Amino acid sequence: RPGDLFGPERLNSPGLAFGDGAALRRLTAEITAAAGLAEAAPILDGIACAGPSRPVISPIDGTKLGTVTEADAAVAARAMETAATGFPAWTAMPAQERAACLDRAAEAFMRERGRLLHLLQIEAGKTLDDALAEWREAIDFLRYYAAEGRRLFRRLQALPGPAGEANSLSLAGRGVFVAISPWNFPLAIFTGQVAAALMAGNAVVAKPAPQTPLVAALAVRLLHAAGVPAGALQLTPGGPETGAALIAHPALAGVVFTGSTATARAINRSLAARDGAILPLIAETGGINAMIVDATALPEQVADDVVTSAFRSAGQRCSALRLLLVQEDVADRMIAAVAGAARELQVGDPRHLSTDLGPVIDGAAKARLDAHIARMTAEARVHVAGVAPQGLYVAPHLFEIGGVADLREEVFGPILHVVRYRADALARVVEEIRAGGYGLTLGIQSRIEESVERIAAALPHGNVYVNRTMIGAVVGSQPFGGTGLSGTGPKAGGPHYLIRFATERTLTVNT
Ligand code: NAD
Ligand code: ALA
Repeated sequence: RPGDLFGPERLNSPGLAFGDGAALRRLTAEITAAAGLAEAAPILDGIACAGPSRPVISPIDGTKLGTVTEADAAVAARAMETAATGFPAWTAMPAQERAACLDRAAEAFMRERGRLLHLLQIEAGKTLDDALAEWREAIDFLRYYAAEGRRLFRRLQALPGPAGEANSLSLAGRGVFVAISPWNFPLAIFTGQVAAALMAGNAVVAKPAPQTPLVAALAVRLLHAAGVPAGALQLTPGGPETGAALIAHPALAGVVFTGSTATARAINRSLAARDGAILPLIAETGGINAMIVDATALPEQVADDVVTSAFRSAGQRCSALRLLLVQEDVADRMIAAVAGAARELQVGDPRHLSTDLGPVIDGAAKARLDAHIARMTAEARVHVAGVAPQGLYVAPHLFEIGGVADLREEVFGPILHVVRYRADALARVVEEIRAGGYGLTLGIQSRIEESVERIAAALPHGNVYVNRTMIGAVVGSQPFGGTGLSGTGPKAGGPHYLIRFATERTLTVNT
């Protein structure tokens, strides 16, 4: 449906049938051929900066994957100034040409499948299934924002007015956007942020998470090779200090951030404390995502959907299910089905095709999860307590807790909490979820349409999934983003996203 709300016709990237032996062998050969040490460093005006480096370590087994040179405050400032210098030429480029750069980058990502998947597996610890899904999402973001950009940015839009007056509206880039991304989607979220900001006519300084600089550096090199001018896109690997230095810089025109609610708040405070222009923050953060299961839900489907939603990607998705609410009448049967399926999951090296859960990202994440497991083991009823291999591995856990309010913090790993509710207490349970303040993903399993509608209407969640899994939002089909403590609301991969990165100008001419 070209030109309408849903954007031009466009296909998402193709998947891989794991049952196709020849295709799978080709893919694994590409990944194997990509092995070798990699490097990341600040890329300013297209040139990688030299400097002291530190090793990048794989969460799979602690092997050294390469090195990263991080951007200190001085390099961060230079990146902002370089982007400010590159902005005028990039923003003046016709939107069709900016879009063509993104489309060419999508082709480059397709060609570099082996290298990108290799890094996603060894640097972020992804299973092949997860790595493929993420690689596809990155390509889909590039093509989606290119198509959306062609639609939205191509010309002045004429508006009505009295005789003798010509009114029009146009969109333009804001200036230098800083893009700050997390480690759990180090290619898709990194690329999506950068592509959206660029497409809207901004110059970008991108800061990947400190755990995953290598795949980000490759993505930037591919974007530059695809024609994005060196001045329009800078890379600044580093941690919180690098991010803080970028957002304190006077050249800043806007921030797109994905990560924890606490960091979004810190960025918000920093923006509020600046003198000068009031700047936009697009923030996508975490959630205590719940699924409500009533007595009409299908147990086999619930078991499948719950296990996928809670434990895929080792639970390291912002969308992942954390809190399962099951109607008392069917709770024993549902919990037994979920527990049985969870116990079957294989935890280990994500490069083995039989693995369901790879490692968690680093020692700090593992320590946080272990502490939560220890507390829950003491305080809650334990339904599943798997045993994980040595290293950064955490097995699936299922704990029964007394109520919604017993879980107040996002637990970012393969740990699911279940609560029983009485049918006549559903409204109270829904109110408790609302009162928690998060609003990212919500699952509802029920065959009663009115009940589904009532629950969905009572909660503010950005992505509601009915009778299915609640992860894996697809670009263009399930625009993704939450409300309240879960973010400022813009939906990545949706038709209203690009406008958030742009300014709108009304032109009125007395003819
Ligand atoms: P995090 O907030 O610790 O870090 C995210 C990014 O912010 C990193 O690049 C980090 O270096 C940077 N950062 C940290 N402190 C900063 C500061 N003071 N100033 C500027 N930058 C700073 O989050 P994480 O641990 O990397 O990622 C996991 C979190 O991300 C979870 O809460 C998860 O729910 C959330 N997440 C949300 C979405 C979404 O779309 N809503 C998607 C993925 C992850
Ligand atoms: N967009 C990712 C998902 O839906 C986080 O799982």
